[in-house]
Amino acid sequence: MKFIIIFSLLIVSGISTENLKYTFETKYIEMPLDHFTYYGTSLPFGNLSFTDLKYLGYLSSSQALADYVYLINDLQKTYSKDVKRLPVVAFGGSYGGMLSAWLRMKYPNSIVGAIASSAPIWQFKDMTPCGNFDRIVTNVFEALGRGKCSLTIKNSWAVIRSETKNDTGKAFLSKLWNLCSPLKSQDDVDDLIEWLSNIYINLAMVNYPYPTSFLVPLPANPVREFCSEINSVKYKDNAGLLNAIGKDDLGEAGWNFQACTEIVMPMCSTDFDMFENEAWDFKKFSDACFKTEGVRPRSEDVPILEYGGKDLRYASNIVFSNGLLDPWSSGGVLSNISDSISAVIIPDGAHHFDLRANNKNDSESVRNARKFHIHQIGKWLDQYYGKTNKPKRREYNLLSALQYFNIMY
Ligand SMILES: *[C@@H]1O[C@H](CO)[C@@H](O)[C@H](O)[C@H]1NC(C)=O
Ligand SMILES: *[C@@H]1O[C@H](CO)[C@@H](O)[C@H](O)[C@H]1NC(C)=O
Ligand SMILES: *[C@@H]1O[C@H](CO)[C@@H](O)[C@H](O)[C@H]1NC(C)=O
Ligand SMILES: *[C@@H]1O[C@H](CO)[C@@H](O)[C@H](O)[C@H]1NC(C)=O
Repeated sequence: MKFIIIFSLLIVSGISTENLKYTFETKYIEMPLDHFTYYGTSLPFGNLSFTDLKYLGYLSSSQALADYVYLINDLQKTYSKDVKRLPVVAFGGSYGGMLSAWLRMKYPNSIVGAIASSAPIWQFKDMTPCGNFDRIVTNVFEALGRGKCSLTIKNSWAVIRSETKNDTGKAFLSKLWNLCSPLKSQDDVDDLIEWLSNIYINLAMVNYPYPTSFLVPLPANPVREFCSEINSVKYKDNAGLLNAIGKDDLGEAGWNFQACTEIVMPMCSTDFDMFENEAWDFKKFSDACFKTEGVRPRSEDVPILEYGGKDLRYASNIVFSNGLLDPWSSGGVLSNISDSISAVIIPDGAHHFDLRANNKNDSESVRNARKFHIHQIGKWLDQYYGKTNKPKRREYNLLSALQYFNIMY
C-alpha cells in the first residue's frame, strides 16, 4: 500500500462503505471518516450528541478538519514503515467533498490532494445566484420527466394552498395522500410543501441510471419514473392534479444544524422554476433556525472568511467533479482554475456519480471522470515521492489506484 485513502462520507452520501474493504491488496484503513462529524454511525458523544447544544457545539467543518489532521497523523505513524510517510488522498462527495477540498486548502501538509465530488463550495452569499439551484432541478424535470411533469408540479403549489385553506380541504388532502399525520394548521401545510420540494430535489440528486437505495429504494432513472407516474394521470381539475402529485411516496433526509450555524446557503425560487416562489431572506432563515434548532447563524460570511470564497489562487491539487443533473452543481467549481485545480464535468451525472460503484449502466462521461481522478492522483504521488523512487512506486501506486477504482466504482 502506497497511499491511504480517506473518505469523508456525509449527508446523502451514496458512497458505499462496503466497497472500501476491497480496495487494497495490503492493509488499508477501513474507516470512513465520519467519526468526528456527527454523521454516520459514530458520534463524538454517542447518543447524547444531538441532545444538547453543549454537545452539538462541536459540529462544525473547522472542527472536523482539525480532527482529520490529528487522525491522519496517527494513521501515518501507525502504517508508515519508512521514514517517509505514506501520502494521503482525501475523497468525498457532497459535504464530504467540501471537507476534502477544504482539508487540502487549510492543511496542505496533511494530504497530497483531494478528489472533491459534487462539492458546492461556492453555494454561498454573492457567489452564485440564489435561484440557480432550483432552476437546475427544474431543468432536470423538464428534460427527463417529459410531458407536463414540471408544469404539474409548478401548478400544484397554488392548488395545495387553496385546497387546504379550510379544515374540510385539509382533511381531504390528508386522506387523498394518506399523510402520516393529518394536516391541522397552516404550519403543517408549509411543512408539507417543503417536504414535497425536498423530494423533487432529492430525486434530481439521485437520478442514477440504475436502482439505488441510499435515501429510499429507488428505480433506475427515478425522475423519469416519477414523472411518468405523474404524467399518467390525465387530470382536469384540482383534485385530479393533487391525485397525480400524490401517486408517489418518498422519504427525505435533512441536515439542519450546520445550515443554521456556518453553512448558510442562500436559495430562492422564482417564476423561472417549478417551485413555489420564495425570496432569500436571511433574517427569516435565521428566525426559522432559532425556532427549530435553537441556534442562529453567526453570519452569512462564515464559509467565505474561513475558506476563501472564490479565491483559489493559493490552493493546489484538488479535482472538483460535478454532474450537471445535480442541483448542487450550482455552487460547484465548473471550470479549471489552474494547473493543479481542475474541474471535471459529467454532463449526464447526478450527485457524486463518479464516487459510486462501477455499474454497467455507467455512462462514458463518468468512466472518463474516474480515469481523470486516477491520472491526477498519479501526478500527486509523483510529486510527493520525487524522481528517485518514481518508476517503481508509480507503477505500484497506479495499479493500486486502478484496482481501487475498478472495484470501488
Ligand atoms: C443512550 O444509550 C444508553 C446505552 O445504550 C442508554 O442506556 C441510554 O438510555 C441512551 N440515552 C439516550 C438519551 O437515548
Ligand atoms: C372549503 O374550501 C373549498 C375550496 O375553496 C370550498 O369549496 C368549500 O366550500 C369550503 N368548505 C367549507 C366548509 O368552508
Ligand atoms: C440499466 O438501465 C436499465 C434501463 O433503464 C434498467 O432497467 C436496468 O435495471 C439497469 N441496469 C442495472 C445493472 O442497474
Ligand atoms: C480541465 O482540464 C482538463 C485537462 O486539460 C480537461 O480534460 C478538462 O476538460 C478541463 N475541464 C473543463 C471543465 O474544461
